[in-house]
Amino acid sequence: MAEKVLVTGGAGYIGSHCVLELVAAGYVPVVIDNFHNAIRGEGGLPESLRRVQGLVGREILFEELDVLDEAALRGLFGKHRFSAVMHLAGLKAVGESVQQPLEYYKVNLTGTIRLLEAMNAHGVRNIVFSSSATVYGDPAYLPLDEKHPVGGCTNPYGKSKYFIEEMIRDLCKAEKGWNAVLLRYFNPIGAHESGDIGEDPQGIPNNLMPYVAQVAVGRREFLSVFGNDYDTVDGTGVRDYIHIVDLAKGHIAALKKLKENCGCKIYNLGTGTGYSVLQMVKAMEKASGREIKYKIVARREGDVATCYADPGLAAQELGWKAAFGLNKMCEDLWRWQMQNPMGFSKN
Ligand code: WQD
Repeated sequence: MAEKVLVTGGAGYIGSHCVLELVAAGYVPVVIDNFHNAIRGEGGLPESLRRVQGLVGREILFEELDVLDEAALRGLFGKHRFSAVMHLAGLKAVGESVQQPLEYYKVNLTGTIRLLEAMNAHGVRNIVFSSSATVYGDPAYLPLDEKHPVGGCTNPYGKSKYFIEEMIRDLCKAEKGWNAVLLRYFNPIGAHESGDIGEDPQGIPNNLMPYVAQVAVGRREFLSVFGNDYDTVDGTGVRDYIHIVDLAKGHIAALKKLKENCGCKIYNLGTGTGYSVLQMVKAMEKASGREIKYKIVARREGDVATCYADPGLAAQELGWKAAFGLNKMCEDLWRWQMQNPMGFSKN
């Protein structure tokens, strides 16, 4: 009997790619999402999941639901027998979190607590959690391995990820039978090679590559490069960009790890290679054949100069490593953006 996996926030960029990989790996995903970051498609499904259905040729089970809604969660867990939960639902904009800390703690922390309570009440004690390299704060050394100190993050978004990691670790210590894999994402970019699904930020993109792609496709005039006076190869910020499909496959490897009764485990999901902003611009120009205009502006508050992963532990313990390089990341990103200049919305 195929295992049912609950995917919270499964209509989003990372969620929709995880749902696709879950089906490919023989699982039955059940998706909940509150449409905070997703566009409605026909038949009430999020457009991203309607496209995933087209790609996998089968129906994706979906319910519009907010993890803060305890009664709805109880109903959901009463309806399905989940073998595990992939918890991706949450607010994720660093800058916005500084303006709205309470909202971020309510949604990310309280939402997770409600979910964990519902899981416990129904005997579902296997979770994969979407954490972030931002929990490392300003790197004390590089590459970042999982032993690097955490909690140095300065914004409420990053702190919420750190607090949730600690909550889940304490739960696994206190209650037998809990297994958790916490995945610290570096910088996920790109799209499924079909070009049918991809990152579709609402409003002005906070992150680099969706913004670069929108410049390439002519939706934005130029990129603002946040500082070129960092101590890096060309003065611009260096990050560890990882193909979204590699990242999604890391979640499947994490599900398998849970089966080993692993307790609480933490892994970086990165490639181990860092690229600067200007190197990313150049790579995207090559992939798109378009000029990408940019202007150097002031540094962005809270940015670190350089951040990239030591991906060795995930390779060793999950048997997972990123397979795709920079060209593939940019080619797949360009295909998505060219086929969907306005993202999932029609106009
Ligand atoms: C990358 C580089 C910027 C935009 C954050 C979160 C992380 C994760 C991804 C949430 C930096 C530069 C960016 C722009 C620029 N989670 N940049 N102009 O800050 O590494 O990580 O987003 O989604 O948890 O911390 O990613 O893509 O915002 O920035 O010059 O318009 O690009 O300074 O050097 P970041 P990013």
